[in-house]
Amino acid sequence: MARVAVVTGGTRGIGEAISIALRDAGMSVAANYGGNDEKARAFTERTGIRAFKWDVGDHDACIAGIAEVEGELGPVDVLVNNAGITRDGTMKRMTRQAWDEVLDVNLGGCFNMAKAVWDGMNGRKFGRIVNIGSINGQAGQYGQVNYAAAKSGIHGFTKALAQEGARAGITVNAIAPGYIDTEMVAAVPEDVLAKIVARIPVGRLGKAEEIARAVLFLCGEEAGFITGSTLSINGGQHMY
Ligand code: CAA
Repeated sequence: MARVAVVTGGTRGIGEAISIALRDAGMSVAANYGGNDEKARAFTERTGIRAFKWDVGDHDACIAGIAEVEGELGPVDVLVNNAGITRDGTMKRMTRQAWDEVLDVNLGGCFNMAKAVWDGMNGRKFGRIVNIGSINGQAGQYGQVNYAAAKSGIHGFTKALAQEGARAGITVNAIAPGYIDTEMVAAVPEDVLAKIVARIPVGRLGKAEEIARAVLFLCGEEAGFITGSTLSINGGQHMY
């Protein structure tokens, strides 16, 4: 039986590349998305991968979403917590709402989704969870106290959950991407982005497929001894 994978934020950017990579490896993939129906429809037309809409920041919606996916595709073996948003601004300008939104989706989403699949994975004694952190959770980033805190939280969440899952055959790992060529990074002001790219030793932005390749590696049947690790993929920008 094909493994069933759920990729949050799986219809765009890094998530789209992950959904495609897992599908190409023979998995049955459900791509979750939060809001953009038009992009999700285009994604499904392009790839044939089904898209499921719910807000990962909403705990009850995650429980219901996983129940729907499991009803259609079968028990979830692989969870990729990729959904993330930015609400950048310096501390002086940042609102409490911008803090809450980023924490709820980027970090709360990891808890909500893991909670929704946890009992099933424990019962079946197999699971692969990959959380997408960020270089900015490792190193910090001017204008991102909310995002850096959430992504840093993901790295702690990963190490704690890895310990809880180990005996049940559930691995929990994180990837910390650097600046990848996606819409999220394209939203950074041009002059600011140029300065950031100038600090990347490899000399360019990363590609979404370069992250997807590592996710696939961590989700493999043969990856059972890799747990609690963080893989930095950032063109040498930050060596951690
Ligand atoms: N170090 C020191 N000063 C800096 C700075 C830095 N790295 N970046 C900006 N500044 C300064 C500017 O020079 C400016 O100073 P002056 O007012 O003296 O000219 C000031 O900060 C900007 O102040 P603003 O009041 O205009 O700031 P703002 O609240 O509007 O925020 C900003 C501007 C959001 C910080 C903007 O510069 C920005 O978007 N920066 C990029 C943030 C970033 O890298 N986001 C990553 C998004 S992609 C992502 O997150 C994916 C991933 O995981 C990697």
